[in-house]
Amino acid sequence: MSEDLRRAIGAITEPQLVRTLEELGFLGAVEDRDGLNVELVLPVVEWPNRAWLEDEIADVAPGARVSVRAMTDDERLELRNFLRGNMTAEPGPGHHHDTATPKFLDKLAKTRVLGISSGKGGVGKSSVTVNLAIALAQAGHQVGILDADVYGFSLPKMLGADHDPIVLGDTVIPTLAHGVRCISMGYFVPDEQPVIWRGPMLHKAIEQLVTEAWWDEPDFLLIDMPPGTGDVALTLSEILPRVEMYVVTTPQPAAQRVAQRSAYAARALKLSVRGVIENMSWFVGDDGQRYEIFGAGGGAKLANDLGIPLLGQIPLDPRLRSGGDLGDPVVVYEPESDVAHAFTELAATIQRQGPARVYRQELKLV
Ligand SMILES: Nc1ncnc2c1ncn2[C@@H]1O[C@H](COP(=O)(O)OP(=O)(O)O)[C@@H](O)[C@H]1O
Ligand SMILES: [Mg+2]
Repeated sequence: MSEDLRRAIGAITEPQLVRTLEELGFLGAVEDRDGLNVELVLPVVEWPNRAWLEDEIADVAPGARVSVRAMTDDERLELRNFLRGNMTAEPGPGHHHDTATPKFLDKLAKTRVLGISSGKGGVGKSSVTVNLAIALAQAGHQVGILDADVYGFSLPKMLGADHDPIVLGDTVIPTLAHGVRCISMGYFVPDEQPVIWRGPMLHKAIEQLVTEAWWDEPDFLLIDMPPGTGDVALTLSEILPRVEMYVVTTPQPAAQRVAQRSAYAARALKLSVRGVIENMSWFVGDDGQRYEIFGAGGGAKLANDLGIPLLGQIPLDPRLRSGGDLGDPVVVYEPESDVAHAFTELAATIQRQGPARVYRQELKLV
């Protein structure tokens, strides 16, 4: 009896780590003693999905008493090794296990890395990143966001994942909200403290967030890039050579010119610039009319100048702003709005477009 229940409870999938309780070592003793007693063994007692797991167990074993204890140091180490085991590629001969690169960085990995960039701040790059990521997750994909905009870490708040990630030794477990994993440098930098990033320090920090966070093998990893043409694009071109760049711009010509400069800088680094996303394209008034508050045509012109497609136009909607401020993303809370539909369509377009063809040095014939 309790063996069957043990199997059934052990088969529950933990949402954050997408592995079963049994695999993760989250299931302790299951005993029939004055009724069923189930012991949950979590990395920390305040594990984010604790209540959810307790509910799931209650569904599988109605009336069971669930007790929770924190893992011992040894158990946490075992979990860390298990997670790193499936995050690292086959170690080569003579290579220490931990020096292998994360699986998703492998040339043949399924992960598409989307760098979301803009020429200047305030065009809605972070808003686009968050809502696009959720739209991709809603379409059934595994999605992560890396907040690399070191000049303003706004993503955790916009996504509603404003709590600290859990750290297992040297492995950081991204936060999870609306089906999207998130890692931000903001999690590791005190709020009040302005950080002056020097090139090498920034490079190291981003490299660590990419390689030491447990990303699993997501279908999409979106990167919120700092505005402009700077160091981060260079860093990414080294760490994530397969990154596909997407440029966010607004409809007015001034924004379009700075966006163009950042696209050229990306191309100079041999990054593949895949498309333009125009944000704040128009506002629909109570009268049902479209008002082009920031002008028109900037996205199409930029796309044309760069010889790449304009992939989507996102309308202005105050609910997008308030959703961002409150951590209630508009694609989740206003799924029937035009702005949410624009993100769903954008996600579908990017999926249809498929990964960039990578030009491989070793295939060169001359
Ligand atoms: N389509 C939109 N409709 C309404 N407000 C928007 C829209 N896009 C962005 N905003 C708002 O504009 C501000 C800047 O957006 P943000 O995503 O932070 O830009 P960036 O990351 O490029 O600096 C935020 O307050 C955001 O809520
Ligand atoms: Mg931003």
